[in-house]
Amino acid sequence: MPNQEKATGAVGAPTRRTDGREKVTGAARYAAEAPIPKAAFGYILPSTIAKGVIKSIDTSVAEKAIGVIAILTPLNMPKLHGGHSGDSRAPFSDMNILYAGQHVAVVVADTPERARHAASLIKVEYTEAKPIVDVHDSSAPLNETPTFFGSPLGFKEGDVASAVSAPGVTVVKQTYTTPIETHNPMEMSATVALWEGDDKLVVWDSTQGVSNTHGSLARAFGLKPENVRVYCPYTGGGFGCKGEEWPHKFLAVAAAKLAKRPVRLPLTRAQMFTNSGHRPFCEQVITVAAGTDGKLKGLRHFVLSQVSPSSTFIETCAAGTSRVLYDTASLEIVQHVKTMDLPPGTWMRAPGETPGMFALESALDELAHELKMDPIALRLANHADVSPESKKPWSSKHLKECYTKGAEKFGWSRRNPIPASTKTPDGKWIGYGMASATYPAMIFPGKARVRLYKEGNGVRAVSAAASQDLGTGTWTIGVQMTATLLDLPAGQVKFELGDSKLPVSGQSGGSATAGSLALALGDAAEALKAELLKHADGTPLAGIDIKDVQFKGGELASISKPTQKVKLRDLVQKAGSEYVEGVTSDRNKFQPTGEDYMANDAKYAFQSFGAHFVEVQIDDLLPLVKVTRVVSVMDIGRVLNPKTARSQVIGGVVMGLGQALTEDTHYDLRTGRPTNDNFADYRVPVNSDIHSLEVEFIDVPDLHFNPIGCRGVGEIGITGIAAAVANAVYNATGKRIRDLPITPDKLL
Ligand code: MOS
Repeated sequence: MPNQEKATGAVGAPTRRTDGREKVTGAARYAAEAPIPKAAFGYILPSTIAKGVIKSIDTSVAEKAIGVIAILTPLNMPKLHGGHSGDSRAPFSDMNILYAGQHVAVVVADTPERARHAASLIKVEYTEAKPIVDVHDSSAPLNETPTFFGSPLGFKEGDVASAVSAPGVTVVKQTYTTPIETHNPMEMSATVALWEGDDKLVVWDSTQGVSNTHGSLARAFGLKPENVRVYCPYTGGGFGCKGEEWPHKFLAVAAAKLAKRPVRLPLTRAQMFTNSGHRPFCEQVITVAAGTDGKLKGLRHFVLSQVSPSSTFIETCAAGTSRVLYDTASLEIVQHVKTMDLPPGTWMRAPGETPGMFALESALDELAHELKMDPIALRLANHADVSPESKKPWSSKHLKECYTKGAEKFGWSRRNPIPASTKTPDGKWIGYGMASATYPAMIFPGKARVRLYKEGNGVRAVSAAASQDLGTGTWTIGVQMTATLLDLPAGQVKFELGDSKLPVSGQSGGSATAGSLALALGDAAEALKAELLKHADGTPLAGIDIKDVQFKGGELASISKPTQKVKLRDLVQKAGSEYVEGVTSDRNKFQPTGEDYMANDAKYAFQSFGAHFVEVQIDDLLPLVKVTRVVSVMDIGRVLNPKTARSQVIGGVVMGLGQALTEDTHYDLRTGRPTNDNFADYRVPVNSDIHSLEVEFIDVPDLHFNPIGCRGVGEIGITGIAAAVANAVYNATGKRIRDLPITPDKLL
């Protein structure tokens, strides 16, 4: 466990990251730097073809290269027993090549350079076939009724066709396209594997799911779960690309076995483009029809996205946007997928919502323009007072306040609704745009434990879960939530994560970590209360109903008769053991019984909302879009930590600006290889691209969701931002860009 700084505040305090010092001083160990002595280095040889079959692999020259310890190929790979995901085939289980960059061999050597050099000496012969990489290639297999997680993606309610053709309605029908985007976390994926004997495995892995990776490796190699240990104290960003059990993890473990040495296996930056997913290409057609009052009579959302022959992931676009955001009299969703000979796609920050909101929120802006309505007024006219999807009441929704607060802070009233009519004093076009933001609030099943120890005259608490911190702040909010639940000063609390030996915890995906941990920790705190009460004989709390007891200032106290109380320290003392512990009960699953948390039979719909306001300035001659100001107002329930939550939203906004203006993974249509798989050619935003970013929160606790009232904040910030930029670009120039990214050539 890292030597953390003490947190200084409970929930709501802008506490600094407890792991901040380790990170900025370089003391934090990321997976590839695992403190495992004598580890050798692995290098993965990628396929140079995008489609075909490996005819032969000749490793004879490479084996003799200096420093080489072992070479793993499909020919000597052990059979796995499942556990892998992302790429739906077991790694190295056949000789077929389904995408460029597919792993073909792993060289283990005493230095990384020698491993890489030896890999260049491996001779692979392929039977090559022509890949289909262009989404408009008519020979690509098209599926018009795809399912995702077993559910069909199409949906129909009411009659959109009649709504669109009714007299007196204003209709907008437009096509929006978004390119393949690649996750570029600072830390590349990496796995370090150490075998202890034949049946014990220790792994350091950069993962978004410590417990998932643990379970997957145990299953794949047929090991007892208690004989597998996965560590991940820090994840240097993930954005979804570390959420699946990608092939390299299993190759690292198999290579370590073959080499009889621990092996460090990092992906290269180029391999991050082909071997840990991407956000698929999408073509969306939005049709909206509204009356003169702006009320939606019909909404049709068509999505075409691309899948790989070895993946099941679908970028759904409409499910998290058109299905949940606005009240419409009729709705139709159609999704098609084409199978392309490309690497598998995967979850990427607000998967579905990010491209989906670009299309929907651009179309609403186009509709507002046609109706000569203010874009906010149009959204208010279609505000969904209950969930359009489930028809249930929202657990908590403050979207209207997001619009009001954001508009005021941004100065929306100064917007000139006539496009291309406003210039700055130095002659740049200036434009204002806005868009809504939305993302579901999810709970993943998981447990946590809370232990109380005696310390000095009081107690100290240590809570723990096999969770992970992607840079999001989990280390810090774990302390803050525990402090709040136990009503202890944060300085008396520690929180542990990043170790599979801790209570099994959910994936850090779907912005679910904070809410899931709140639920697990809340339940563990209740269990701790029950444990402590077992030792209340002879105290003022003897025989009291647990429902009448709360943690209060270092004591357990009666709620109805506050003078009846006992010091926590005295109860731990009476217990006579080193600590008293509460563990989340088994009922903390997707569907907690009898509660109103996330469940199909829940009483409420759980969703976060927000609004973005964007100002752009654009030079006439060189139309580079400069985003000069962004104001984002988010309704994410209770804000656990304004500092880390703000950073999450800022991160989402910045990534959204990348989506809007620069990011585009380009594949060579002949070879199927990405041509810009590096930081020089794949442009993510840098400091000079970013100007004023302001983030505000509504900060109303959502106590139907969990006992702390927080919903997640990792993803919502990116949703809607590209549309807000495109809408501002239209306001500035009169040019409507429906094809991301908005590069200068499109504005000339
Ligand atoms: Mo996130 S794309 O759910 O890791």
